[in-house]
Amino acid sequence: MIKVSQLAAAVAMVVTAAAVQAGEVEVLHYWTSGGEAKSVAELKKIMQAKGHVWKDFAVAGGGGDNAATVLKSRVVSGNPPAAAQIKGPAIQEWAAEGVLANLDATAKAEKWDSLLPKVVADVMKYKGNYVAAPVNVHRVNWMWANAAVLKKAGVAGMPKTWDEFFAAADKVKAAGLIPVAHGGQNWQDFTTFESVVLGVGGAKFYNDALIKLDAKALDSDTMKKSLETFRKVKSYTDAAAPGRDWNLATAMVMQEKAAFQFMGDWAKGEFLAAGKAPGKDFLCAAAPGTANAYTFNVDSFAMFKLKDSGAQKAQGDLAAAIMGTEFQEVFNLNKGSIPVRLNMSMAKFDDCAKTSSKDFVDTAKTGGLVPSVAHGMAIKPAAEGAIKDAVSQFWNDDKISVADGMKNIAKAAATK
Ligand code: GAL
Repeated sequence: MIKVSQLAAAVAMVVTAAAVQAGEVEVLHYWTSGGEAKSVAELKKIMQAKGHVWKDFAVAGGGGDNAATVLKSRVVSGNPPAAAQIKGPAIQEWAAEGVLANLDATAKAEKWDSLLPKVVADVMKYKGNYVAAPVNVHRVNWMWANAAVLKKAGVAGMPKTWDEFFAAADKVKAAGLIPVAHGGQNWQDFTTFESVVLGVGGAKFYNDALIKLDAKALDSDTMKKSLETFRKVKSYTDAAAPGRDWNLATAMVMQEKAAFQFMGDWAKGEFLAAGKAPGKDFLCAAAPGTANAYTFNVDSFAMFKLKDSGAQKAQGDLAAAIMGTEFQEVFNLNKGSIPVRLNMSMAKFDDCAKTSSKDFVDTAKTGGLVPSVAHGMAIKPAAEGAIKDAVSQFWNDDKISVADGMKNIAKAAATK
């Protein structure tokens, strides 16, 4: 007869074996709005279907500032999550700390090098090794509008230049509605700001001023014109904007309270989750003056070094799932972005996504493809934070002159 102690040992062995097969993945992310939650639920489903346990670690706060703070405290206390939504230069900073897991085994087996645009693969690697898995490509320089509101206000179509935009905004105002739905948080202010800079100055100026942080560009007439235009946009927002979440601003457009919103295409995920139809209920167009340019924002997950072999297996499966065709399609259909994996069929995607996909390829050839500063794609987090603060101060305080606004931004750009 089998003894109790033997039985316990046998059970322990089975449990250990199971743990090697499947593991728990704790995933830190900030996808909590309607469209975002629907999107991340697809990743959870795929991981559960592989037998893993998904431990959701959602930290609310658009743009991810709150999530970044929580992540720091978890890593510093020696208790990192299995995976976290980290992107751009922040990936390099975390990798330099020596805390990220090497994903090369998965990347090699799944042939990531041949499935990713080089500009994306480079960001996912640290010293030649993959340390993060990319999810999507979001376009940031979009302008969204409610079709019924435009009609009511007598606006014939989506404005293509800033002059046309202000003429349209005046008509909306005259119709008693809010021209621009805005959420006053610094990443949202900067989302609008970088689209204005791109529209006023073009891609080369954007690169010089906001990526290279070139002192001459930051002190130029084009920067002056950008700040004047930016301030004018603000005059078309409502008094309740400060502190408002981005998805509540999107809801104002949906509910026919406001006409336009400047936001990346996660806003489309929000419209879709509410059952709104693109091209009919809501319209998408590049922000004025930016049709030939593209500010990109690639979401990605980095994995942290963990000791448990089940957790390591789950991390590999998560990385493989993220780059898999099934996830790339269903996630991006919900999220409003386009697949980052090359050669994916766009058949199921709407016209906004098809435009984004075409413009991504075209602008890569013309030099119009630029990283989004507002979304952590371009410059080191410290300088990014300082510039965002300077831009938000200017946005929030009409008493700051354009000249002083320019000086403050240039000073912030020097932050190391
Ligand atoms: C962006 C992120 C998107 C979207 C948005 C609002 O920075 O890349 O995936 O979620 O913030 O939270």
